[in-house]
Amino acid sequence: MKNDNQNGSVCWESPSNIAFIKYWGKKGNQLPCNPSISMSLKHSITRTQLNYFPKKSNKRIHFEFDGNTQPIFEKRIAQFIDSLVNHSPFIADFEFNISSKNTFPHSAGIASSASAMSALALCLCSAEKNITGKKLEEQEYFQKASFIARLGSGSASRSIYGGYAAWGQTNAFSKASNNYAVPFSQYTHPVFHDYQDTILMISAKQKLVSSTAGHQLMNNHPYANARYSQAFSNFERLLGILRSGDLDAFVELIENEALSLHALMMNSSPSFILLKPNTLAAIKSIRQFRTDTKIPVCFTIDAGPNIHLLYPKSEKEEIIAFIDSELKSLLENGKYLLDETGNGPQKIIIE
Ligand code: DP6
Repeated sequence: MKNDNQNGSVCWESPSNIAFIKYWGKKGNQLPCNPSISMSLKHSITRTQLNYFPKKSNKRIHFEFDGNTQPIFEKRIAQFIDSLVNHSPFIADFEFNISSKNTFPHSAGIASSASAMSALALCLCSAEKNITGKKLEEQEYFQKASFIARLGSGSASRSIYGGYAAWGQTNAFSKASNNYAVPFSQYTHPVFHDYQDTILMISAKQKLVSSTAGHQLMNNHPYANARYSQAFSNFERLLGILRSGDLDAFVELIENEALSLHALMMNSSPSFILLKPNTLAAIKSIRQFRTDTKIPVCFTIDAGPNIHLLYPKSEKEEIIAFIDSELKSLLENGKYLLDETGNGPQKIIIE
């Protein structure tokens, strides 16, 4: 007999995150080769609505982005959802209409797979709860959502939590796991509670290398082992820095991580140079500004040319003045996005 919990809608908003220690290299089924830690953003968000109903056709997944069908994304999402049947058996008997939109521009150098896959994972977990009536403790619920998100995109596992989240097993943090991310905010110094991330848009063009292809570059990389041990030790050092609020040490470590990631891309086969001349010009200017003013501002960069400028909230006015006078001319259409530490995903109640 059909009962009314078999049809319904769920909706979540979930943020992107910026990695301080980079996940670069994976093994097995989406397991990281080193621990990573990131800050979840406040304004770079994906909003996803999932409507579910008992299966009636063979094409079970229908996906729209910004109101348009997107066959490539739809295929990836269908494969992902199909692969989850062992973890969430209800999936086999249902059909899903999914619609998604971002608050930030496509290819802004913001990891859209992190916000998209975390929002979708949260929707699937909410749908499962509604359909099966099985209640999980809040902590178990988010752990499962992080686990599911990780299977969709590794960095998405960390977006399940506001503030700071760590993913990947390490002796430096006993709660950490390869299977899901865990929150780290409760251990951080107050200076990090409202840390700022301003994204400098050096180029809005599509990335030359997808993250998935990028991770593969680590498979036979001559420096892979050296990188993994560097990441384990940087991770351990960063946990101490996040606790103590030592911003001089923070600046040094964060830039070391970002440039190590790009060094690995440059000397892998095939090789990728994702940094643009204007990325390097901006880096030079940021470092000069830091030397001149002693303001602890630093940069990090993901697999693209755009710069994430990280700094304490107390310095916001001076940093914006610096961007407007020194960096703006290096940016595509002078564009930058102001973001900051966010509180994590939010369930949206649909009327
Ligand atoms: C450079 O999480 O996008 O942003 O698991 O293949 O989806 P997949 O990769 P993804 O990789 C992110 C790489 C990074 C660093 C990071 O966010 O830790």
